[in-house]
Amino acid sequence: MGNPLFATKSLETLMKEAGDTGEHSLKRALGPVNLVTLGIGAIIGAGIFVLTGAAAALYAGPAIMLSYVLAGFGCVFAGLCYAEFASLIPVAGSAYTYGYATLGEIIAWIIGWDLILEYAFGAATVASGWSSTLVAFLQDYGISLPPQICDVPGAKWVLYDGRWTPLTALSLSPGQAAGLPQATATFNLIAFLAILGVTTILIIGIKESANFNTAIVFVKLTAVLTFIAVALPFVLKHSDMAHANWKVFLPPNMGTFGAYGWSGVLRGAGVVFFAYIGFDAVSTAAQEARNPQKDMPVGILGSLVVCTILYIIVSGLLTATVHYSRLNIGAPVSLAIRETGVKWGSYVVNAGALAGLSTVMLVMLLGQSRVFYSMAHDGLLWKWAGDIHPRFRTPWKSTAIVGLCVAVVGSLVPIGSLGQMVSIGTLLAFVIVCASVWILRVRRPDLERPFRTPLVPFVPIMGIVVSLGLMAGLNGVTWIRLIVWLAIGMVIYFTYSVKHSKVRNSLK
Ligand code: ALA
Repeated sequence: MGNPLFATKSLETLMKEAGDTGEHSLKRALGPVNLVTLGIGAIIGAGIFVLTGAAAALYAGPAIMLSYVLAGFGCVFAGLCYAEFASLIPVAGSAYTYGYATLGEIIAWIIGWDLILEYAFGAATVASGWSSTLVAFLQDYGISLPPQICDVPGAKWVLYDGRWTPLTALSLSPGQAAGLPQATATFNLIAFLAILGVTTILIIGIKESANFNTAIVFVKLTAVLTFIAVALPFVLKHSDMAHANWKVFLPPNMGTFGAYGWSGVLRGAGVVFFAYIGFDAVSTAAQEARNPQKDMPVGILGSLVVCTILYIIVSGLLTATVHYSRLNIGAPVSLAIRETGVKWGSYVVNAGALAGLSTVMLVMLLGQSRVFYSMAHDGLLWKWAGDIHPRFRTPWKSTAIVGLCVAVVGSLVPIGSLGQMVSIGTLLAFVIVCASVWILRVRRPDLERPFRTPLVPFVPIMGIVVSLGLMAGLNGVTWIRLIVWLAIGMVIYFTYSVKHSKVRNSLK
């Protein structure tokens, strides 16, 4: 018998679990349209509405479009690998489950623990972005929320030009700032309440969550399409302006890596990678799909392709409408639409951005609770985490506890630190999933794969290389945090999971 640390969960057991029905199982309620919208719900969010502006202004200029192409390309490799697994092993748990089936228990544990970084910290990051978007949105209507409840403890805000604004978002000298009314935030109550609201919907039911998501995805897509429909004719009509803004499409490098030029396009890709995170969350809902073999690849790849196309168009129009040097702001897409002079368009875009961010939180938290559910089911986490509510048929205890923890983290930790953690956690999961697809092809060539990743091992290898490349671009502090996080996970694994693991116990 091999080392129990690397014990694998047999595919036959996994497939049997996937076939379970009854009141203690998840409900198979989602069709292909729900799954594509679930993906779009998770993908379009803070990345396109918030981060694109800074990435264009600081790293890539109008060539941010190329950054989107590059990051999208990288995600397609990983997406193809996710699609093979999600159709082959259609159970909740995503990368965690795939790792358990192929690389063994300890690696599965590492992925499960790592996915918390992606999903829980991802939801917390977006909650933070949601609160700043809401503040900006309400101020457009002359409503000011007290800054004390709108940001992390200690963040300084000033009343500038009639609007409460975080000091870091303005380039003011200390003297100028001192002359303005100031406030210090104590707790981001807005982010906290946003997460609690989304958690409540998730507890009530998967169908309700999916319906809420579908409705909002529609609003969000309307916002993106409105932007395109308004900005495109504007750009065509004012071709001189667009020409001037795009005159330098790829600004020359300033002498340091990442400051414009081709290295800037690369760094920009690292930043806007965040905008693509979420397509993999579709795979966590595999156990709730009606026909996962066929619909999982549609959900994962369909949502990825739709978003890639929209992102490339939006980023192009954004930099054609507003010169990239003016885009380092919290709501760049709003600025661009205001620039066109179409007032109603600006309301639609702002409302869509708010709605958009809320579905990102929803799908991320959904993914998180499903990973916990799977780990608890396997005996690697406390049993209560896998309890399903008899009426709502959702893993309500883990959803509630995760929601509460995420709400606390999102209201206390600054968005910048959270965002990088999300990227590194997601990329690590991509690396492991790509490797697992390849390993399983070698070990179990016999399995019937409803969806086959093309060109194996080329596609998995490219997925691994691109993900490692993007990880290497992240800063040292983020790497240290990742290592500390994984070390905490190991403590839990060796003190609890090894004793309760069902797979290990079955080996005795
Ligand atoms: N892709 C998600 C976003 O842009 C995480 O907010």
